[in-house]
Amino acid sequence: MALREIVLLGDPVLREEASEVDDFDEELRVLVRDMYETMYDAEGIGLAAPQIGVSKRVIVIDLRLPDQPSERLAVVNPRVVWSSKEKDKAPEGCLSIPGMEEVVQRPYAVEIEGFDPKGNPMTIEAEELFARALQHEIDHLDGILFFDRVSALKRRMLMKKWKKQQAEDL
Ligand code: NI
Repeated sequence: MALREIVLLGDPVLREEASEVDDFDEELRVLVRDMYETMYDAEGIGLAAPQIGVSKRVIVIDLRLPDQPSERLAVVNPRVVWSSKEKDKAPEGCLSIPGMEEVVQRPYAVEIEGFDPKGNPMTIEAEELFARALQHEIDHLDGILFFDRVSALKRRMLMKKWKKQQAEDL
């Protein structure tokens, strides 16, 4: 297992459309293990492969809700096959845009199809935070960041804040 470096906003890999996984091999399973390790180390609740510079359609999620058993999940080639008309608004952040947070509106519930790292098909029904995390991570596979899902005004404010923060970090 290895901790991987999380790439930040500005890295072109975050804007690419990630490739479908064809081979459910050991390389994929190593990638998934590294993604879990990197997500836990960064104290995130989800991570997409492009965030560690690997442009493949793989996501991992572990909401780690208090008072609930840990349920970690890796989905390969995930697709949203249904989303509710009902919307939900909640603040989101992203390990690739640390320090930034904004309220994002998304469908309240979704159904996802994909594969586990061994290649077995899986269907996931999710709502609320779980649905939000899945949608956020699947967005990453299409080069979409949560910044893209807020109003143009808010996006400008976030970009300004981000640039200021980056300049201060230098
Ligand atoms: Ni993210």
